[in-house]
Amino acid sequence: MSVPAAGTWMSDGVQTAEIAASSADPKGAAVRLQDVSKIYQSRQGEDIVALERISLDIAPGSFVCCVGPSGCGKSTLLSLLAGLIAPTTGRTVIDGAEVKSAHPKVGVVFQSDLLLYWRTVLDNILLPVEIKKLRRADYEKHALELLEQVGLAGFEEKYPSELSGGMRQRVAICRALIQEPGLLLMDEPFGALDALTREQMIHDVQRMWMRVGNTVLFITHDIDEAVFLADRLLVMSPRPGRIDLDLTIDMPRPRQQSDIHENPNFARYVRQVREIFEAKGILKA
Ligand SMILES: Nc1ncnc2c1ncn2[C@@H]1O[C@H](COP(=O)(O)OP(=O)(O)OP(=O)(O)O)[C@@H](O)[C@H]1O
Ligand SMILES: [Mg+2]
Repeated sequence: MSVPAAGTWMSDGVQTAEIAASSADPKGAAVRLQDVSKIYQSRQGEDIVALERISLDIAPGSFVCCVGPSGCGKSTLLSLLAGLIAPTTGRTVIDGAEVKSAHPKVGVVFQSDLLLYWRTVLDNILLPVEIKKLRRADYEKHALELLEQVGLAGFEEKYPSELSGGMRQRVAICRALIQEPGLLLMDEPFGALDALTREQMIHDVQRMWMRVGNTVLFITHDIDEAVFLADRLLVMSPRPGRIDLDLTIDMPRPRQQSDIHENPNFARYVRQVREIFEAKGILKA
């Protein structure tokens, strides 16, 4: 079996009309953070204020990117939304319901693919279904469809060790999508990939989102990646994390690689973000 060529993922069969229909009728969850703070305790018993009084509304079906310096609380924000940790103060709300535990409408992709090496690709994708004690047979067809959409048709019986890093991360995305989550959380999902694979993955994620129409919160250190993907870009301050800039990225989709180098609007957005980081001393001018 041959490894799928770069560029095959989800680019086939996605018609413009389909894209327009999915963006007009988003299936995504509505997200609300109300005055949310998160304070951890260090081992010495000191308070570590990771997030400070964040209020935020995310519209259903929007693609929100979050950039900020290391340690500013990005993963904390994501863990709160996933229901993995509780806020110290404030409320996290998804589709009108307060998040109290791991949320069924939320899928998560981390920097490391976290695939179980002893399970096949298909068994990894179906893991959330098994954990929730749902009927595996009801989801198998969808798992195979997802694999096909990510250019991995025929790979269902392979083991993670037989795949490249980019392929494994695609499987991790399928696993996050298996239950059709209204909210997809991605925490630096391409941070460990080489530059070329990463470039392909951002195009593929854009396509996926245009088809699925779910709400996405995508965390990255890469300003170009954030501007390329986002409808809305949140720039966070150093700890304690607050939102320094809430920027609407108004560029038509699908965005192309050439936009990064040639579109003056793209350059303008990147400059705006860089200026904030330079003003805070995070980037040298
Ligand atoms: N379980 C924990 N206990 C104590 N402190 C924590 C804990 N988790 C995170 N922190 C601290 O909270 C702050 C925010 O951490 P977080 O992981 O959210 O940052 P981040 O923006 O995701 O960083 P990076 O870009 O490096 O991934 C950091 O100072 C971190 O040391
Ligand atoms: Mg992090």
